Amino acid sequence: MKFNFPVETLTKIDTPFYYYDMELLNATLDAVATESGKYGYKVHYAVKANANDRILTAIESKGFGADCVSGQEVQKALDCGFASKGIVFAGVGKSDWEINLGLDNNIACFNVESIPELEIIDELAGKKGKVAKVALRINPNVNANTHHYITTGLNENKFGINQWDLEKVVNTLSELKNVELEGIHFHIGSQITDLHSFKDLCLRVNELQKWFVSHHIMPKVVNVGGGLGINYEQPDEQSIPDFASYFALFNELLELMPGQELHFELGRSMVGQCASLLSKVLYIKEGVQTNFAIVDAGMSDLIRPALYQAYHKIENLTSSLDEEKYDVVGPICESSDCFGKAVALPKTKRGDLIALRSAGAYGEVMANQYNLRTLPKAYYSDSL
Ligand code: LLP
Repeated sequence: MKFNFPVETLTKIDTPFYYYDMELLNATLDAVATESGKYGYKVHYAVKANANDRILTAIESKGFGADCVSGQEVQKALDCGFASKGIVFAGVGKSDWEINLGLDNNIACFNVESIPELEIIDELAGKKGKVAKVALRINPNVNANTHHYITTGLNENKFGINQWDLEKVVNTLSELKNVELEGIHFHIGSQITDLHSFKDLCLRVNELQKWFVSHHIMPKVVNVGGGLGINYEQPDEQSIPDFASYFALFNELLELMPGQELHFELGRSMVGQCASLLSKVLYIKEGVQTNFAIVDAGMSDLIRPALYQAYHKIENLTSSLDEEKYDVVGPICESSDCFGKAVALPKTKRGDLIALRSAGAYGEVMANQYNLRTLPKAYYSDSL
């Protein structure tokens, strides 16, 4: 299934805006449900990738849980109908009010990243006469081979408990009365397109599981995080990621103990391809080597190119003339406000409608108001 642009309708809407293809979103979610369902795996959608109400509601209606990283995300998930037993709460720096919110709503699990955090959850749960379920986020020291800003599972990253601290953590756990070990949690990074990294993760998890067995501990849940990448170069070639191979790999390589559940926290792969940022060309300005196509969307609307040198395919939806090369730039007062250099586009003029593809994940949710710009609006294929 391809992303569908109803161009005539879209040209009438004020730009810039995010446009969601809800049919593609639903087909993608169905693929995740079918492929994970084959093995009885549970998927908690990583809310950070896109916390738009319409998107969250669609995801909830397909039966997925929610993986949250702030009190605000927990609250948003609850507001959008996710059951508290389907909410897990991760993050290295949970404030007391956020922990209390999770406790008050009896969420499924806190993914804990340090001993001091474990002690605070224990203290706050104790004050409420509750026992909090926790999963230990373990830093597996596996290289995700992705951009260093979105690599999380190496010893030098701030995330997770290092393996040499596990003995200490397990001892602390056994002394605390108001926390109960529910599972172990891993996440190695994002936009991972080489499945070998997940193979390395499986092998490391198998080793760690043996460590737990030798300590007579059986975590009920193994949570291997998210990270499956999408095809930014050719979004129409693979608009639905290869979930079949992804889940099959875990089924083949991960050794679960009897009765253990396997959980995932996918974000980008579930929502990445279902949106484009639409923008109009304001001016064509002559440059030294290539001309500039100055568009009305900027890095405040989609920050990924400026922040990670991320590639988003750029298309001119309203011209079919011979190709020329353009530096496609936004209006913001930063040289990094550039969506692509020397991009081949059909000859482009003022008023043309431009699509920045694969913007469903970490797009709208990372938009900001730099230069006091208005946040981009969102439109949906099923309610245009
Ligand atoms: N679980 C944990 C603990 C995470 O930290 C993340 C993402 C996920 C799950 C979901 O990962 P995904 O399936 O989406 O790869 N803003 C960056 C990506 C940051 C990812 C942060 N953690 C970007 O635009 O590329």
